[in-house]
Amino acid sequence: MSLSKAVSGHLNFPDSTTQRLQIKHLLEPTKMVSTTAGSDVIQGLKKTPKTLPFKYLYDDRGSELFEQICDLPEYYPTRTETKILQNYSIEIAKITGTCELVELGSGSSTKTRILLDAYQDLNYPLHYLPIDVSTGILELSAKQLLKDYPTLQVYALAGTYEQALSNLQPTKLPTRIIAFIGSSLGNMNTQECDRFFNQITDALHPGEYFLLGIDLQKPKDILEAAYDDSQGVTAEFNLNMLKHLNRKFEGNFDTTQFSHWAFYNEVEQQIEMHLKSAIAQTVELRSLNLKANFTAGETIRTEISRKFDLDTIQQDLQAHGLIPQQVWTDENQWFGLILSRLS
Ligand code: AVJ
Repeated sequence: MSLSKAVSGHLNFPDSTTQRLQIKHLLEPTKMVSTTAGSDVIQGLKKTPKTLPFKYLYDDRGSELFEQICDLPEYYPTRTETKILQNYSIEIAKITGTCELVELGSGSSTKTRILLDAYQDLNYPLHYLPIDVSTGILELSAKQLLKDYPTLQVYALAGTYEQALSNLQPTKLPTRIIAFIGSSLGNMNTQECDRFFNQITDALHPGEYFLLGIDLQKPKDILEAAYDDSQGVTAEFNLNMLKHLNRKFEGNFDTTQFSHWAFYNEVEQQIEMHLKSAIAQTVELRSLNLKANFTAGETIRTEISRKFDLDTIQQDLQAHGLIPQQVWTDENQWFGLILSRLS
C-alpha cells in the first residue's frame, strides 16, 4: 500500500492544493488479479438465464455515457436527488455537525458539492474522503474540488467499497458521515445489500452517520422511459459493455446482433437491463477460453436497478443498527434521502 502525495504541477513547486490532497491506493497489483479476472464473466455466461456483472458497464466510454444519461430528460433520478440535496443539505449538516465526509463511488462529485457547500456555509472544517475504483476520476475531481474549496482537505481512497471501508483510519474530526448517494444501492440484490450494510456498520463507530440516496417505486411507464430513453443513450451504454468485454477478453461480440432491452419487473421491484441476441449465434472470448451459445431472442441480464419503498428500507437499516434520523424526499416522492446513525 502506498501513500503518495498527488502532484498537479511538480514536486519542487508544491502549491496549496497538492498539500491538501492525499491519495491512498488499495487496489491489488494487476498481476495478482489476472488469475481470477474474468471468472465472473465465465460464470455469468454459463448460467441460464445469462447474466454479466454490471461493473463492466463502466469503462471510460461507459462512464462518459452514464454522465450523459444523468442529463437526459427521461432520467429523473439525478435531477431529483440534486434538488433534495439543495433543499436539505443545510439540515443534514446541522444534524451531523462538524464531520468527515466519506463518499462511496464518488465519481465526478457533482452532487457532493452541495453537501460541501452546506458544511462550508456553516463554517465547519471540510474533510472529504472520496472512494472510487478509478484513480483517474479521483484525481481529476479532487483537484477541481481543491481549487473551488480553499480550506478543503481530501484523503482519497482508490479501491473497492469493501477495501476502503475496512481501511478507514480514525477521523480527526468529532464524527463521520458515510454518503452513498445516487441510488447505486439499487444495483445490489437483497443478499448483497445485507452484506453491504454490515460493512457500513463495521466501518462506523456508534453515533456516526450514514447518508443513503435511493430511487423509489413509481409508475412503470416513468421507470421504463428512464431506462430506455428516446435518444438511445442508455441503449448505447448497455451495448458498450460488449465492446468493453471484446477489448478486455479478446471477444468477438457483434454489437449489431444484440439490442438493448429494459423493463420494470414488478414482482422483484427492479428495472432489469438486458442485451437480447437477434439471432442464434456463438460468441467467443479468447483470453477466457470461452464460447457462449445464444438462441435467437436469448438475453443477458446486465444490470438490476431496484426501486425502494421508504418504510421497508428504513426497517432494513434499523435492523442493521443504522437508526434513521430523518428522511427527505421530493414533491412526487420519486427519490429518497435517509440519514441514519449507528446505535
Ligand atoms: C448508477 C446504478 C444509479 O440504476 O439508475 C442508469 C445506472 N443504468 N441507466 C441506475 C443506470 C441505466 C444507475 N445507477
